[in-house]
Amino acid sequence: MKLPDPRLRLVSEPVGPVTAETRALAADMLDTMYDAPGIGLAAIQIGIAKRLVVIDLAKKDEERCPVVLVDPEITWSSEERRVHEEGCLSIPEYYEEVERPDRIRYRYRTLEGESVEQEADGILATCIQHEIDHLNGVMFIDHLSRLKRSRAIKKFEKAARREAEDA
Ligand code: NI
Repeated sequence: MKLPDPRLRLVSEPVGPVTAETRALAADMLDTMYDAPGIGLAAIQIGIAKRLVVIDLAKKDEERCPVVLVDPEITWSSEERRVHEEGCLSIPEYYEEVERPDRIRYRYRTLEGESVEQEADGILATCIQHEIDHLNGVMFIDHLSRLKRSRAIKKFEKAARREAEDA
């Protein structure tokens, strides 16, 4: 699902208790993410408005290290911020530097129903913040200047119109 699809602006619903359906959705999301390839994906990016996120920061030549976050939330963010270049599978081939808190504490449940609270920094902190934004209908372009954001939106609106005409 790509910008400007309005579903990307939905606020996703809590997953609640993990079911076979949740596990199937997580498996689908991991497939989509690895196919892309990308390092993170939120369920709404495949059209499902549930608070489910998958992440894998392993490099191409490293073993896969998938993490599934059920109903994740950020419980603390550092004052210090860092800038990192971000991209998004829903905004293909568009990259911009985004400033966010450098460190976070976050809480989530695993597919086994275990409750976890951890700290993250660096690229993991960036990735988790980016994905939790998706659960709230926020995309990384929303953190850019108004000018950059509207340019990006226009570019993708134009591409969507062209695709519709070609179809
Ligand atoms: Ni994204």
